[in-house]
Amino acid sequence: MAKAASKTEMESREFRMRDSDFRTIADAIYTHAGIVIGDHKRELVYSRMARRLRQLGLANFETYLGRFDGPHGAEERDHLINALTTNHTHFFRESHHFEHVRDIAVKHWQARAAKTGDRRIRIWSAGCSSGEEPYSLAATLAEALGQGGGWDWRILATDIDTNVLAHAKRGEYPVGAVRDVPKTLQRNHFQPSARDGAMVRASAAIRSRITFNRLNLHGDWPMKGQFDLIFCRNVTIYFDGPTKNRLVKRFTESLKPDGWLYLGHSESVLGGTAGLHPVGRTIYSFKGEAR
Ligand SMILES: C[S@@+](CC[C@H](N)C(=O)[O-])C[C@H]1O[C@@H](n2cnc3c(N)ncnc32)[C@H](O)[C@@H]1O
Repeated sequence: MAKAASKTEMESREFRMRDSDFRTIADAIYTHAGIVIGDHKRELVYSRMARRLRQLGLANFETYLGRFDGPHGAEERDHLINALTTNHTHFFRESHHFEHVRDIAVKHWQARAAKTGDRRIRIWSAGCSSGEEPYSLAATLAEALGQGGGWDWRILATDIDTNVLAHAKRGEYPVGAVRDVPKTLQRNHFQPSARDGAMVRASAAIRSRITFNRLNLHGDWPMKGQFDLIFCRNVTIYFDGPTKNRLVKRFTESLKPDGWLYLGHSESVLGGTAGLHPVGRTIYSFKGEAR
């Protein structure tokens, strides 16, 4: 494990980052994104923010932090958020979730449609990073529901980080990134990119099913309807307990009565959030109805 740089080491670097500068940055990312940055992340904060200081031609963190009170404050806050979020993701990450969607959720919707005629499916990928999660979902649904059948399905994909969202909207990835996509889905839903032979792009058909929007999970949620599925995976690990509990409660309010919530492998709903019942590895059924 890398040794954390001592205070003196930090001060002798290219840019001076005082204890108080680090704390101001940690407080700002907590206030604006709910992300907790502990002391052991000093090194990471330094290296990610040093790039920005270089870009701006600034001499130290103190001057940099002064920008937050000036006319560029809001813009700088976005840069800070983009720099300090962790965006690691890949296609079909935690593949058992996509198997659950294909084998359980789709069958449930087919049975529901047969009974009520309801063919509307709404999914939210909350904290979608560069798009691999919503495109994995879209390819799974396109394959499982097929072309006909009158299904009206859409995915809302949101993140607080504007850089990853721009990448996600384009839907273009290095060829190697789709190696975890099942072969049939690769063939049917990802095509060689017209721009660059070393890249693949999600098909226009699945791209058209996804709406990407910036959304801070701790801010207002402008969405009116409720969701059949909410994926919020590997996002709440960066939040503290009360923030996470509040968020999970809000998710339950945004789920249809027969909806499911999917969290990441190290995240769980502790303390028995009302109405959520575990039905698989980090999969929660709302109201726990038998199905
Ligand atoms: C590690 S990625 C997870 C991506 C994907 N869900 C997965 O599991 O592969 C976490 C994402 O959560 C986003 N995030 C962090 N705090 C957020 C917040 N307050 N509101 C919305 N998104 C946030 C980050 O920008 C990042 O892209």
